Amino acid sequence: MALTDFDFVLFGGGGDLAMRKLIPALYALSRGKGFPEGGRIIAVGRHDWSREHYLEELDKQAKPNIEEDRLDEGAWKAFRERVNYVSLNASDAGTYQPLKEALRDDDKLTRVYYLAVPPNLFAGICQNIAEAGLATPNARVVLEKPLGRDLEGARQINADVGKVFSESQIFRIDHYLGKEAVQNLLALRFGNILFEPLWRREWISDVQITIAEELGVGNRMGYYESSGALRDMLQNHLLQLLCIVAMEPPVDGTPDAVRDEKLKVLRALKRFTPNSLVQNVVRGQYKSGHVDGVAVPGYRKEPDANPQSRTETFVAVKAEIDTWRWSGVPFYLRTGKRMADQLAEIVVRFKSIPHSIFNQPISSFQPNSLVIRLQPDEGLNLNLMAKTPGDGMRLKLVDLELDFRETFKKPRMEAYERLLMDVLRGQLTLFMRSDELEAAWEWVEPILHFWDQEDNDPLFYTAGSWGPGAASALIGRDGLQWREEALPEE
Ligand code: BG6
Repeated sequence: MALTDFDFVLFGGGGDLAMRKLIPALYALSRGKGFPEGGRIIAVGRHDWSREHYLEELDKQAKPNIEEDRLDEGAWKAFRERVNYVSLNASDAGTYQPLKEALRDDDKLTRVYYLAVPPNLFAGICQNIAEAGLATPNARVVLEKPLGRDLEGARQINADVGKVFSESQIFRIDHYLGKEAVQNLLALRFGNILFEPLWRREWISDVQITIAEELGVGNRMGYYESSGALRDMLQNHLLQLLCIVAMEPPVDGTPDAVRDEKLKVLRALKRFTPNSLVQNVVRGQYKSGHVDGVAVPGYRKEPDANPQSRTETFVAVKAEIDTWRWSGVPFYLRTGKRMADQLAEIVVRFKSIPHSIFNQPISSFQPNSLVIRLQPDEGLNLNLMAKTPGDGMRLKLVDLELDFRETFKKPRMEAYERLLMDVLRGQLTLFMRSDELEAAWEWVEPILHFWDQEDNDPLFYTAGSWGPGAASALIGRDGLQWREEALPEE
């Protein structure tokens, strides 16, 4: 669908997210066929910069984040032409006049307010936009996480933003939903007949969802220290992936049909009890170690770190969904920084065969599994038992692999590109609704309370490992292993 003209107002225009992700994504979109002549970007920041200066900052800070093969000097120059800069104090309504002047006074135009700023500024910015008469009916607001630090904070954000914008104007972004492989999971589940009959407790033994990063906390200590892995990754990205795996088929692809189904999953998550919190949640923090052969410091020794910090950089959880479809099927979720590998994947493991007709013990039959790879490369693997060539009947696990890049030979779209495109189109399916956000907080909040009361440190794990041993024990208690622990040595 072609886009119509728009004014895209980027609050936090000089910030890290804008420079790393948003500007490169807008640049990439601007090269596409359907991108309108009248698509303009108005970056807003507190620095007293001129437009020229801001453009120089883009050259310095944003341009290097564009992949080399996508960078075209002519296109970058043309993109810069679309960009304007307005300096204002987002919390002071009296400073919004220059923004008003920079916007086109045309009600038909799509107007996007992207708030790439800390959430404590959301309420004030929305109110100031309204006071300046800029909350036009066709305006949309995009909210970046963290959307609250807890349920109450999330409710407050929903209430504050909801005073100015209606739910259909609010885009709560979770960039994991924009990833190609996540979309392909929807295609796999609802574009094929094959899996749906098997996609249930009778045939699936367990589901593992892992987002492992080799990177440490980097230069985001200030944010991370008050967040930790649970708020940063579990409450949003991991739970959203779980919803896409577990939801019932929606009646169609419209935003509310999909979001209703995701919400039902969140509401059906089994609540933690004091006992299950001890059994089913692991909190870890990395200590020094080696990642890819390079020595790295522990979290407490990172620049600006609190040397006694108890912030978790790893979390593993066993979740259960109390529905007819999923009752008794564990969903193991884990995420961590400074892990052994950089990968994001969903592993759906099927049950074992009931009986061996071959001259091979049943224990030698590995269960089928479907692996949806989100990162670093995107694709699917279906593991099946097959006969090895030659005389006799020996069966072995083989891998049917689908590599999206190889198969489609089309340049892939980064998650932020797809999601920004959806914002510009007004397509809400891949964005969280207020009730989803609150349901996700409701489920994780007991973990936060539990940790707050605990008078002990997180479990330490060596940087470059797969996290604390307790994470293996968590899944091991059910007689299972994390996928990479179960893989045969190469
Ligand atoms: C962000 C988190 O939402 O996701 C970061 O704040 C994390 O801490 C990042 O590094 C991971 O995203 P991706 O797409 O690189 O896996």
